[in-house]
Amino acid sequence: MKIVVIQGPNLNMLGHRDPRIYGPMKLEQIHQNIESVAKQNNFEIDFFQSNFEGEIVDKIQECIGVADGILINPAAYSHTSIAIADAIALAGMPVVEVHLSNIFAREDFRKQSYTGAASAGVITGFGPFGYHLGLLSLMQIITELKAKQEK
Ligand code: DQA
Repeated sequence: MKIVVIQGPNLNMLGHRDPRIYGPMKLEQIHQNIESVAKQNNFEIDFFQSNFEGEIVDKIQECIGVADGILINPAAYSHTSIAIADAIALAGMPVVEVHLSNIFAREDFRKQSYTGAASAGVITGFGPFGYHLGLLSLMQIITELKAKQEK
């Protein structure tokens, strides 16, 4: 079974980018941690990061028929992108959204997530550990779905 991790704009700058909000960990380190948990659970995992909205839409569409679920941090596009929300809705697979920071404790414009509303659930405010929580949730949802399909 396969999960694709999609990272939105500016997340390639983690470590450098406002560490008081986003912490010191780089994206590669976060991905290494996710990869080891996925592998322990016999999930294949792929990573994708883009600063471009359309590329994220394309990637979600490419997951159809290839992946069993998507772990996504759409970053700032969470608060603006109907296009990514629509892509999530049409993907036909579980999508779990993660935010490093607590989007509800920040500026008002971050309190709405169009992409989160289209996802199975949102994990927000736990720093890099949120990806771990998101991955566990997603693996659980996928495993339950497979078990239902095999019945
Ligand atoms: C973020 C929160 C967004 O509001 C922000 O634009 C980001 C990162 C987070 O992971 O906390 O780029 O998605």
